[in-house]
Amino acid sequence: MTTTPLLGRYFRKLKAAIPRRRELLARRYLRGCGLEIGALHRPLPLPSAVRVQYVDIASREENIQKFPELDPSDIVEVDYIDDGFILSEIPENTQDFLIANHVLEHSPNPIQVLKNWCRPLKPNGLLFVTIPIAEKCFDKGRPETTLDHLIDDYNLYNRPTDHLAQQRIKEKNRDHLREWITLSERRIFSKRDSTYIKPSVEEIEKRIEHTDTQNSEIHFHTFSMDSYSRLLDYFTKTVETGMEIEKVCKSRKEIVSILVKSST
Ligand SMILES: C[S@@+](CC[C@H](N)C(=O)[O-])C[C@H]1O[C@@H](n2cnc3c(N)ncnc32)[C@H](O)[C@@H]1O
Repeated sequence: MTTTPLLGRYFRKLKAAIPRRRELLARRYLRGCGLEIGALHRPLPLPSAVRVQYVDIASREENIQKFPELDPSDIVEVDYIDDGFILSEIPENTQDFLIANHVLEHSPNPIQVLKNWCRPLKPNGLLFVTIPIAEKCFDKGRPETTLDHLIDDYNLYNRPTDHLAQQRIKEKNRDHLREWITLSERRIFSKRDSTYIKPSVEEIEKRIEHTDTQNSEIHFHTFSMDSYSRLLDYFTKTVETGMEIEKVCKSRKEIVSILVKSST
């Protein structure tokens, strides 16, 4: 995955405001040893007795290159360089908690990712996930992703040998990238660079054609408090019935959610 200096500047701006509610809830709920996925430059502050290891798709050195506008001293050392959407290196039933702040929206298949994040948790283990509220960030104006859309993604990805299903995934991911370039990226770039010129339709289509959309660093989906709550409700009632919703709440720009694995 690659990013540009302009995107780096966006991340730097985010750093200026670590959401207080995120921090308070982490201090209140998280105990023991666990993982944080995609901490980058904003590792979640935790009580001193809590032990955390960091997972990221890129090493610290790669992240320093990828995000040149960030202060390198803020970027965490990565303990597991791995696809944090799968966590193939992490055995099941080993973690007291798993944290992922502003990562889930980067996945083309969030239901599967939530499922994968539950696997390493011990009984009573906590899944601590925050996501940006679309209307409060650069995704403003994008259509809200529906639960049906996410269920469809989940079902399509679970048919890897079905050519039509795989074709449909490609089309959906291209649509996401088109929306990202047209609305999100445009908002990020034009705010920070007065010389930014909106790409033409032809330029956008050419870029989409040449992008590995599935692995592109974009917000695939957009959420509100209602739509994210519906997703968690569906997830805990239908996909992972061994998980329960402990807390879902909103702060100014993000939603904080905590799920707990049942004790049996
Ligand atoms: C938007 S930043 C989030 C930074 C920080 N957690 C925050 O709250 O602002 C996304 C982070 O997730 C990482 N990431 C994205 N996809 C990933 C994946 N599939 N596996 C592991 N890390 C991933 C990126 O490298 C980056 O460090």
